[in-house]
Amino acid sequence: MKDSTPPRPLLKKIDHLGIAVPRLADAIPLYETLLGAPVEHVEVVEDQKVRTAFFTVGESHLELLEPTDPDGPIARYLDKNRPGIHHLCVEVEDIDAVLAAYKAAGVRLIDETPRIGAGNKRIAFVHPKATGGVLLELSQPIAPDAPDEPER
Ligand code: CO
Repeated sequence: MKDSTPPRPLLKKIDHLGIAVPRLADAIPLYETLLGAPVEHVEVVEDQKVRTAFFTVGESHLELLEPTDPDGPIARYLDKNRPGIHHLCVEVEDIDAVLAAYKAAGVRLIDETPRIGAGNKRIAFVHPKATGGVLLELSQPIAPDAPDEPER
């Protein structure tokens, strides 16, 4: 960042709330009724052992998360907690810069470096102990024509 650049907030906007559910087959029709809108897309994220379903709500989204493996993080979450809000996701412009700023401030991170999440975005999780109890997902959209994004 150049000296002449005014400081900007690290976080851009709330991208989605993640909601852990036992079964998408039950939760999707429920949320279609609640939102009055169809599910937008369903995607398996192998890395996180979940199947996700996205709904648009205004400028934001809801992400329903169903475990695909009893050893996955959502299955473990549902073993200990009721179904409900699992994480808050905030969109950022430069996830590397945010992670560097958090590291410098001693913020406890789950992911020190970004990985690829649902919707082909660069994501990283911040530990709930660092946020007052909220699992925080940082998400940076990958521009489809970004020339410098390495293939993964
Ligand atoms: Co999410």
